[in-house]
Amino acid sequence: AQDKRESLYVLSAWAGKYFKEQLWNTPSGQSIGLTYFKERGYQESIITKFDLGYSPDQWTALSEAAVESGFHKDYLKEIGLAIERDDNSLYDRFRGRVIFPIHNLTGRVIGFGGRTLKTEKAVPKYVNSPESDIYHKSDVLYGLHFAKKAIKDNDVCYLVEGYADVLSMHQAGVENVVSSSGTSLTSGQIRLISRFTNNVVILYDGDAAGIKASLRGTDMLLEEGLNVKVLLFPDGNDPDSYIQRYGSTAFKEYIAKHQEDFIFYKTNILLKDTDGDPIKRAEVIREVVESIALIPDEIKVSVFIQQCSHLLDIEERVLLTELNKIRIQKA
Ligand code: CTP
Ligand code: MN
Ligand code: MN
Ligand code: MN
Ligand code: MN
Repeated sequence: AQDKRESLYVLSAWAGKYFKEQLWNTPSGQSIGLTYFKERGYQESIITKFDLGYSPDQWTALSEAAVESGFHKDYLKEIGLAIERDDNSLYDRFRGRVIFPIHNLTGRVIGFGGRTLKTEKAVPKYVNSPESDIYHKSDVLYGLHFAKKAIKDNDVCYLVEGYADVLSMHQAGVENVVSSSGTSLTSGQIRLISRFTNNVVILYDGDAAGIKASLRGTDMLLEEGLNVKVLLFPDGNDPDSYIQRYGSTAFKEYIAKHQEDFIFYKTNILLKDTDGDPIKRAEVIREVVESIALIPDEIKVSVFIQQCSHLLDIEERVLLTELNKIRIQKA
């Protein structure tokens, strides 16, 4: 089994090199892929650092090159670079897409994300490697290999939604950033972060999906004992679009100024929808206390109960009663 995994690692590394070669050294890679990255504002140093690539718009280009290089078809299937048809023939998963290789903690390539260059809504924006013996999505954070030192040095980790956000933040000089790649955060991913810091700032997209994911992510992080701050970007921006639109300096100022403790964030978000309705307000209080109830550290719990009491203008005694009720329900 170890041999097989090693073979998959070798094939992944080979494919990473293949996609890079296509991007930099073929006419279509240069005119389509490289042009795309540059038009998005990425410098060559970032394109190189993250090993970005291009998959040609052909059905079997990679599969044929891999077999020619001596790789067995079974491994191409296993790792999802190729997909098998009913007649047992193979076709490439990634076609006509720019490629973001996914690295593990030690920097080995374990999977790929491929972004379409088309704007039609019918085409999926990203195609990703499936689960394999070397790629468990729930245990991987995109960018961690490039971020771990900066996370440790700064004692904080920025958490973003997407590949592009990681790239743009690096280019802006903010390197302590990882992406959960669109899927909801898992406890495995959180444990990975907590090897390097206990402090997380969520920088999800400023849209409805981002808000929802930020609230869920907050609870997951609190439950694992991490300190959580949150920040939303205006007008539906994500970190990448904000940086490309307003520049690195404005971005850094924005995140320094607008990140807030989860309790303020959650309270304000929920209060917006209450229109002063006391029943809805009571529901907000309950939901905020539900988040506090997840925190394993009793001292922090008591600090947040105090803050919540001030913030929502409600007696601590009442909040503590609610807290105990929630704990009993969960026990
Ligand atoms: N994602 C995915 N499949 C999709 C859409 C999204 O895997 N069909 C993942 C990708 O990892 C993506 C992340 O979810 O980076 C966040 O999604 P989204 O915000 O929609 O994309 P962006 O990262 O903003 O992509 P871009 O800026 O390239 O449009
Ligand atoms: Mn696993
Ligand atoms: Mn999004
Ligand atoms: Mn986004
Ligand atoms: Mn984006």
